[in-house]
Amino acid sequence: MCGIIGYVGNRHPEEILLEGLKSLEYRGYDSSGIALKNEKEIQIIKSVGKISQLEDKIKATKLIDCNMGIAHTRWATHGGPNEVNAHPHRVGKIVLVHNGIIENAKELREELERKGIVFQSETDTEVACALINEYYEDDMITAIDKAVERLKGSYALGIMLEGSNKLYAVRKDSPLIIGVGKDGMYIASDVKAIIKETNQYILLGEKEIVELSNHSYKIIKDKKEVLKEVLTADVSKEAQEKGNYKHFMLKEIMEEPIVLENTIKPYLDDMNLIPDLTCYEQIHIVACGSAMHVGFIGKQLFEEKAKIPCSVECASEYRYKDVLYDRKTIVIVISQSGETADTIAALRKAKENHIDTLAIVNVKTSTIARESDKTLFIEAGPEIAVATTKAYILQVAMISLLAYRSALVRNKEEKRIENELKKLPRLVEEIINRRDTYLKIAKKIYQEENVFFIGRLMDYAICLEGSLKLKEISYIHSEAYQAGELKHGTISLIKENTPVIGIITNEKIKEKTISNMEEVKSRGAFLITISNSKVDCGDINITLPKISEYLEPILVVPTLQLIAYEVAKLRGCDIDKPKNLAKSVTVE
Ligand code: F6R
Repeated sequence: MCGIIGYVGNRHPEEILLEGLKSLEYRGYDSSGIALKNEKEIQIIKSVGKISQLEDKIKATKLIDCNMGIAHTRWATHGGPNEVNAHPHRVGKIVLVHNGIIENAKELREELERKGIVFQSETDTEVACALINEYYEDDMITAIDKAVERLKGSYALGIMLEGSNKLYAVRKDSPLIIGVGKDGMYIASDVKAIIKETNQYILLGEKEIVELSNHSYKIIKDKKEVLKEVLTADVSKEAQEKGNYKHFMLKEIMEEPIVLENTIKPYLDDMNLIPDLTCYEQIHIVACGSAMHVGFIGKQLFEEKAKIPCSVECASEYRYKDVLYDRKTIVIVISQSGETADTIAALRKAKENHIDTLAIVNVKTSTIARESDKTLFIEAGPEIAVATTKAYILQVAMISLLAYRSALVRNKEEKRIENELKKLPRLVEEIINRRDTYLKIAKKIYQEENVFFIGRLMDYAICLEGSLKLKEISYIHSEAYQAGELKHGTISLIKENTPVIGIITNEKIKEKTISNMEEVKSRGAFLITISNSKVDCGDINITLPKISEYLEPILVVPTLQLIAYEVAKLRGCDIDKPKNLAKSVTVE
């Protein structure tokens, strides 16, 4: 969601900025732009659509000779995706790019309009730009500082000033890093944007203002200089390339066995590395999207195995509702990026209420990783495809380990699963290699309008993710239903050949789900069953290996991910960058 890259140094910025924008494409965007600056001029080029369209425009333009620039991918919030609203924006001497949302933009806009400022765009970004311009007299740090005092909401800003050879930036609740290179200095939303140039970076803190020159930086907060550690990024260039795969999504699914092994390994020898949660009387799992679906799997395991009451909440609701912390509670937040705005807000709410927090995160330098009391990291490495796959499966593995650890404490008789955990990566590998079956299923689905996923208890939790994966990348409408609930209304949508994917991993409810499968079949559905025991009522039946109940979802997930992938591929969709979606949702 919106990406920023900026450079000041010895080189012309064109290539650095374009390459940076390309590596931020995965975040999701609908327009883009760059601004180049030398002592005399500022040149701004913008385009709607793909970066390649911006690149064509840049190639067709005579660029100014310069050594500084800022660039941006925009995911529209205030105002539609058009060239006027695209960043960079310019007001007076100030040119800037922005990631986030200025919540008091309307009020500030009116105030500035009363002073005679005429805005060109509908954006909140232009308001921030005008505000800094308004406050600028002769010192940029003071002007930014004054603007920061007034701006409400979230922002990462990359800022240039006409006539100055310095590049400025500031952030609040939206990620921004500083890159320290041999040829110059960088700002970026993500280390990935600068990794081809340098792996040395600094995490910019809340409301810290940075002033960059060709080879130096100064960080200021509350008018005082702040000293910060320079970190080394471990993002390999290889992990960011597709290699021989057609799509990042496929590459990332294929990486699941190895990342599972890397994530599980430390705990095989010492399960005590996982926190015991039996001292809590209730668990709140809070997250968004797929990460929230992980929570529903966790709920089943925490309640059934560890006997701890658990509720799962979508972070955008949790942050605003009256939460009952009447019993000893732990809040578990789950986030691949660690930068999802609603999940951060939920985490902060728990902390403000003095509730213990635990995060399951992929990005180690993220806000959530830094702010939660305890953190369990998954080892997914960079996930580039917008739709999560390998990070999701690792989050499921991690929540299962958490529930298992507490179950071991709760019940001395609990069956150990370490041996099955060891086998897990190999089993996942076997499942992802059944590509022909997934293609056969995809051919039955890809021209349909609606697909239903049905299951009970844990199987329903798995269905939620299967359904999301399919709809987000293939644009086919799909719904996940508790198998017994379908007949209370939605079954009226089942007609001849409507695909229904039914999941059964639990012997206890097997016969019940089979009855529900028969109900849809007798109304014409094309039934696909996925089960870990013999089920033959489907038009296509997939049998998965049997494994501990803790790990069962992990075997179903790649099957659903690959069905979604093959369907989207047959429909010719832009699989890695589905329309309207962003990888890291840094706004509410
Ligand atoms: C779907 C997907 C999203 C994310 C959600 C949370 O494929 O990727 O639903 O799971 O936006 O993102 P994180 O995990 O970064 O907090």
